[in-house]
Amino acid sequence: MTKIASVQTPLPGPRSKELFTRWARVEAQCTGYQAQVVWDHASGVLVTDVDGNTFIDWTSGVLVTNVGHCHPELVKAVQAASAKLLNNYECLNEPRVEAAEKLVSVLPPHLDKCFFLSTGSEAVEGAIRIMKRHSGRFEIVSFYGGFHGRTYAALSAGGLAGPKKGYGPTLPGAIRVPFPYCYRCPFKAKPETCGLLCLDYLDDAVRANSTGSLAGVIVEAYLGAAGFIFPPAGWFPRLEQWLRARGLLFTLDEVQSSYGRTGKFFALEWEGLTPDLVCIGKGIGSGVPASAIGARGEVIGALGPGEMSSTMGGNPVSCAAVSAVIDIMRREKLEENALRIGALMKARLLAIQERCPYVGDVRGLGLVMGVELVKDKQTKEPAPDLTRKLIDLAAHHGLLIGSVGTFGNVIRVAPPLVITEAQAHESLDIFEKALSLL
Ligand SMILES: Cc1ncc(COP(=O)(O)O)c(C=O)c1O
Repeated sequence: MTKIASVQTPLPGPRSKELFTRWARVEAQCTGYQAQVVWDHASGVLVTDVDGNTFIDWTSGVLVTNVGHCHPELVKAVQAASAKLLNNYECLNEPRVEAAEKLVSVLPPHLDKCFFLSTGSEAVEGAIRIMKRHSGRFEIVSFYGGFHGRTYAALSAGGLAGPKKGYGPTLPGAIRVPFPYCYRCPFKAKPETCGLLCLDYLDDAVRANSTGSLAGVIVEAYLGAAGFIFPPAGWFPRLEQWLRARGLLFTLDEVQSSYGRTGKFFALEWEGLTPDLVCIGKGIGSGVPASAIGARGEVIGALGPGEMSSTMGGNPVSCAAVSAVIDIMRREKLEENALRIGALMKARLLAIQERCPYVGDVRGLGLVMGVELVKDKQTKEPAPDLTRKLIDLAAHHGLLIGSVGTFGNVIRVAPPLVITEAQAHESLDIFEKALSLL
């Protein structure tokens, strides 16, 4: 079979090197570590850098380009929309109406309203505002390892130290509780026998921390930035029962888990969850900046005129992209592809785990999988030092990967949902080769 990845220069290549040097002179260097390539163009699952090297992409940006990089239909829709109207703030435009109709049509029936914003963090900020406004209360239960963005309410709800360290007090009212990270259970229990004891702990946490002003719960459908950590089956329905019994609002952060990533359009479909608010981002524009809140009309209806708006939210170009992405997802049945290719990739990753001394855990669903690197499989000591090495080695052989994780030791396996079987196998061959060179 002909190989599609091809790296012909050392990395960074000469042109990339020059651009990295120019960039460092003028822009603050505060982004995370990435493979040493400067992207030039991309199509489907392939990325070509400015030196002419071609890579298979396991990042999808950061779980963004679900319909594939630069899908021709999406590019055409954006070109047509931008030639007509670039921005009109809150004045209505036709693409906004069409995008809202399409988005509501793919949301579960109880979420009958939406509202467009620009980024995932903004959607989270908006959802937290709505929970407070609707309930008249201010405390939000959230989870260890949760990542909801870097803006203030979002980072306060988050359960990772990174975005908070060095910034002083977070917002009052964040009550953070353990998430079921079963590979490293905080209670040292086993998922087969624990009876989901981490959920019993919720009452203790509330009793110890609440001032009696609980508004709601925000949680990701799986922990993304903490390392693609999926809760055991049954955990979400029991969480929903717990919060309903206390009259709390339920926000599910699907900024990265929606748009087919787990093999369903929304991850909430797996266990029939009925959140009051869903935060949507990343894949919604598949590369074009857009985000949204999906909501029960009655809940978002707590906001009166003038209470929510954003300069770029609902702009006609983003809205044209939102509509085009939904059309593409539906026609190309990308959720099904995510499930099929995801299953074959996971089976191979599990086989790699058997052979490789550093792969401690392989987990995930559809086309979002985490490979957790450890120094020793018995002690499970995290191996964050290996991730940067692996990112570079994989790039040298034609595969772009990124890392996440509470301990910075999880490789993201999240290619665009259009990946084919042959591309999946080639990328896994490269990944295994890179692991063998560690
Ligand atoms: C689950 C989740 N929520 C919110 C965000 C924030 O999104 P954005 O970076 O678009 O503000 C992210 C980003 O990674 C995310 O993964």
